[in-house]
Amino acid sequence: MKRSLLALLCTLTAFGVQAADAAKATPKGDAARGQPIASAVCGACHGPDGNSQLAVNPKLAGQHPEYLLKQMKNFKAADGKQPERVNAIMNGMIAAFDEGQMLDIATYFGSQTQKGETAKNRETIELGQKLYRGGDQAKGLPACAACHGPAGAGIPAQYPRIGGQFAEYTEAQLKAFRDGVRANDPNKMMRMVALKLTDVEIKAVADYIAGLR
Ligand code: HEC
Ligand code: HEC
Repeated sequence: MKRSLLALLCTLTAFGVQAADAAKATPKGDAARGQPIASAVCGACHGPDGNSQLAVNPKLAGQHPEYLLKQMKNFKAADGKQPERVNAIMNGMIAAFDEGQMLDIATYFGSQTQKGETAKNRETIELGQKLYRGGDQAKGLPACAACHGPAGAGIPAQYPRIGGQFAEYTEAQLKAFRDGVRANDPNKMMRMVALKLTDVEIKAVADYIAGLR
């Protein structure tokens, strides 16, 4: 157990360095240019300011632009290949946009303020909090906080904000990582985490995260 945690921490450190390099290299997008596309095209599902009203559509407001850009690129099929992140709706929605437009849209949504959800299940808060903050050493599960931060704000550029997100969306993503349906996480970081979670634990941690600030 100790060993796998150590390996993970080494990966983390290595990624921290890479993330810092990536942040330096990332060109700045133009939020004012991204706003009209974001509000008109994406806003129908994600809300004009990225605060979606429906749990199936994730909130994008306040998310790190680097992460948003990566997801958009992952949704877009390149060179006739299967996109790295498969979702029928998003694979279609993003097809028309080039990388410059994606960066502008990402910069716009990233600059908006998230209106966070709340935790709804009193009975599972304790379990959710325990998993989020401490993981489960007995089964080699690292704490979510190690990568997503104590308040769920993420660590740019690589680790997304997850606090305040709809529990239903978080739950669906954790199951998609666990089943390998979503496989665009660098170094299988999330697939390794999700494999160690039961359905009950996924529900508990997803609900806890919805109320996390
Ligand atoms: C018809 C509804 C719809 C529209 C319009 C739409 N999206 Fe989405 N979007 C979704 C759904 C549903 C998901 C969740 C996909 C999944 O479950 O993997 C999503 C996921 C995303 C994600 C991943 C978020 C994350 O936290 O990983 C990004 C980024 C995104 N959309 C950007 C956009 C952009 C940019 C546009 C406009 C060009 C757009 N979307 C238009 C429905 C939509
Ligand atoms: C070793 C680092 C690491 C740990 C520990 C970790 N994550 Fe992640 N997580 C990531 C990375 C990296 C991504 C982004 C993957 C990508 O680029 O698509 C991510 C993405 C996610 C997403 C998708 C967000 C979105 O908007 O679609 C969710 C949900 C998530 N993590 C939840 C958790 C939970 C819950 C835990 C604890 C049980 C956890 N993570 C532990 C690294 C980690």
